[in-house]
Amino acid sequence: MNPMPRRARTRRKFLQMLGVSPLIASSSVLAGGLADLLRAEPLQEEHFLGWLGTLQQQDDAIISAPDQALDVMDFEPAARKNIPPAHWGYLATGVDDDATVRANRDGYSHIQIRSRRLVDVTNIDMSRIIFGTKWDTPIVLSPVGAQKAFHPDGELGVARAAGKKGNLMMLSTVASASIEDALAARGGQVWQQLYPTNVWEVTRAIIKRAETAGSPAIVLTVDLHDGSNRETLFRAQRVDRRQCSLCHGGYSPFARGKTGATSASEGFAKYVARKPMFDGLDVSKVTQLHPLAMSWDLVKRLRDTITVKFLIKGIVTREDAELAVEHGVDGLVVSNHGGRAENTLRPTIESLQEVVEAVAGKLPVIVDGGVRRGTDIFKALALGAAAVGFGRPHSWGLGAFGQAGVEAVLEIYRRELRAIMRQAGTTSLDKITREYVIPRSS
Ligand code: FNR
Ligand code: LAC
Repeated sequence: MNPMPRRARTRRKFLQMLGVSPLIASSSVLAGGLADLLRAEPLQEEHFLGWLGTLQQQDDAIISAPDQALDVMDFEPAARKNIPPAHWGYLATGVDDDATVRANRDGYSHIQIRSRRLVDVTNIDMSRIIFGTKWDTPIVLSPVGAQKAFHPDGELGVARAAGKKGNLMMLSTVASASIEDALAARGGQVWQQLYPTNVWEVTRAIIKRAETAGSPAIVLTVDLHDGSNRETLFRAQRVDRRQCSLCHGGYSPFARGKTGATSASEGFAKYVARKPMFDGLDVSKVTQLHPLAMSWDLVKRLRDTITVKFLIKGIVTREDAELAVEHGVDGLVVSNHGGRAENTLRPTIESLQEVVEAVAGKLPVIVDGGVRRGTDIFKALALGAAAVGFGRPHSWGLGAFGQAGVEAVLEIYRRELRAIMRQAGTTSLDKITREYVIPRSS
């Protein structure tokens, strides 16, 4: 095909779309980048056309109030509409081609449910006791950094929603709220997720601060090193015309070439200095959040330092689960960071099975990654999870409608879990055993 006519057609379609799309018309961020897009090569133009076309098609169907949502996925386009492109890219991104993000989701479709009949399911008890605390449901909000990037309510809106709905919440070390404020907003019971950094005094100070504030658990995340290849984020940053450095104070570990930092180390100290959990700390030597030197020696040191419950997040193999038991850890979170760390193509629901076998009931195992339905939660419980977490969906709810959106997301998960427990004939969580699931045969 002659490239010129094709390019002209593409450009015409693109310009037509600009004329009709209320989404694009209302987005100064996108509009600011139009001149660049129009100068782009034909292939790139088509790439953007596809992207914008998808947005436009979805606009009519996008929910405008939390109670219109039929499932948690309905919040994704509603959030995408509100969140600036670079921040959306940060939320959505996996690594490389995002295949592990998709694998996490797909893993659940390889497991089928074996429902029992003629069971009196008038009363369904979804409660679970973890570390002596009784939870209404086993549905957990996994830690997500920088949630004010999605809505001004940020982590405190998430915490208020979790408190109202009775869910356990983990707060990221790089949250845009402090542990004290999150605990107050939720009404207690916020677990502190820990990125240790490369400076022990900083690590220790964050732990002691969380303990003093009343956080009942510290969750060390071990599955991420700096510099993961987040292509979806980098692509989204290209179409965001805002100047990142204006808000990011000169540096963001996730932004590429737009922040004006003079060096990574200088920038990193600036980055953590903006995070409330680093307030008052000497961060001048902090160059890594997730140190390359992290090993089981750090786990030993943490075990001797942490006086509340101590969990490790990011374990995906039986070998590491056994080591965690040997090191006296109190609990595990099976996670691959929502497919944002490395592209393993292995769903966490598959990793869960070997981790559960390895710990042999000695400690509770939580799983997250791709959990989008009550049936997913049911399957994970059947395979031995004590509780089940999710990251992006509470941020979709937040980005779409603030705190009210998070509440709605939590309510949908609860409703769907109750529905499948009734249908499968399981009246309480302890009844959901391995007999209730079977691998898909094809
Ligand atoms: C995360 N995750 C994460 N994990 C962690 O231990 N500390 C953190 O600060 C963050 N930050 C973060 C930001 C964003 C934008 C996302 C999407 C995820 C990982 C998170 O806790 C959880 O493991 C995954 O999100 C689970 O996968 P789903 O539910 O998003 O598919
Ligand atoms: C992330 C870090 C903050 O996944 O955990 O973006």
